[in-house]
Amino acid sequence: MTSNPLTAQSPPAFDVEALRAQFPALHGGAAHFDGPGGSQTPQAVADAIARQLTRPMSTRGDVTLAERNSDAAVRGAREALGDLMGTDPGGVVFGRSMTSLTFEMARTLARSWGPGDEVVVSRLDHDANIRPWVLAAEQVGATVRWAELDPRTGELEPEAVAAVVGERTRVVAVTAASNLIGTMPDLPRIAAIAHAVGALLYVDAVHLAPHGVVDRVAMGADLVACSPYKFFGPHCGALAAAPELLESLHPDKLVPSSDAVPERFELGTLPYELMAGVTAAIDVIAGIVPGHGSRRERLAGSLAAVGAHELTLRRRLEADLSTLPGVTLHSRAARRTPTLLLTLAGHESKDVSRQLASLDVNAPAGHFYALEASRALGLGDTGGLRLGLASYSNDDDLDRLLTGLRAIGARDRA
Ligand SMILES: Cc1ncc(COP(=O)(O)O)c(C=O)c1O
Repeated sequence: MTSNPLTAQSPPAFDVEALRAQFPALHGGAAHFDGPGGSQTPQAVADAIARQLTRPMSTRGDVTLAERNSDAAVRGAREALGDLMGTDPGGVVFGRSMTSLTFEMARTLARSWGPGDEVVVSRLDHDANIRPWVLAAEQVGATVRWAELDPRTGELEPEAVAAVVGERTRVVAVTAASNLIGTMPDLPRIAAIAHAVGALLYVDAVHLAPHGVVDRVAMGADLVACSPYKFFGPHCGALAAAPELLESLHPDKLVPSSDAVPERFELGTLPYELMAGVTAAIDVIAGIVPGHGSRRERLAGSLAAVGAHELTLRRRLEADLSTLPGVTLHSRAARRTPTLLLTLAGHESKDVSRQLASLDVNAPAGHFYALEASRALGLGDTGGLRLGLASYSNDDDLDRLLTGLRAIGARDRA
């Protein structure tokens, strides 16, 4: 899925049924194409959260067992997220969501901007990597420049970013993968464009993380954000940067709260039980393909296998969809995740989604907060039907989806 050398070896075998068995929600339930909105949860993650909640816990510290239990959960989650994102665990900031972390970081960075400074956002991105920058810029009189998505190809070309980056650009905010159409822009080239003028690159890796290796350094990202609930974990967010960069920044904080990095960026008491769940989720991913080596290496092996599995399913799905009358696929970029967006001639996507739901096929419709992308693609504020494949998707899921879509088409012709 990525140009990372860690994924370059041929993918190992991947037992999808063994993975599915770890998810109680998948036992005899719906066919899930709703992963881009949040994955299902393995039993091991629920168990880790319950274990953390029921052991002695108090505010972090090193005196009592209760303090040490909380501290271990925090340190464990930073290590695990560091392995997942290819980054120093000392620069991993934990938060309520990617959205709230991005709002807070945008406000913090904007303290050093003023009129004449510029921020670059992209038309491809989820609004969580647009609006925080637009609002922060407005508040200090800085200018927002838009890198345009090519609606014919679904690509965000580095040239489109270069066209709006200038000497006064302070931040370039770009997604690693679109949650609407899967597009994976060429981040190293975009990073070179941003860094040539001294701007920071802020990467939204929320949608990439379940499908491929995130490597903060190889991407060229100064800051990278993800959301564990998209990759088997609980509902929370994480942001990572080099600790030296975080040392240079001063967010709003309470006077008595720690001024250390990364704690300086974390508001209030951390959710220790969710952090235990995040570690468990990352360990589940690392174990998809049993292997040796560091957790980072095992994650790379598992994600390579997941990527190959998802690509096989995606090719089958795209081939089968191309035989259905009236289907238009809007996910077309050369490099993309297995997230398809389609419209069906003569049908509202919301209605198609509802009809599929009545057959226990979960495929939501909308713009999924990638509002600018939906509009740029000519889909307005309605969007389309999103078919998100996940590591636990299988051929049976595809059969159920295609049977449902054929039935909807057949009713048309009747
Ligand atoms: C690509 C992308 N970025 C950002 C977000 C926002 O993440 P969070 O819910 O953690 O704020 C989402 C959520 O769907 C997303 O898909």
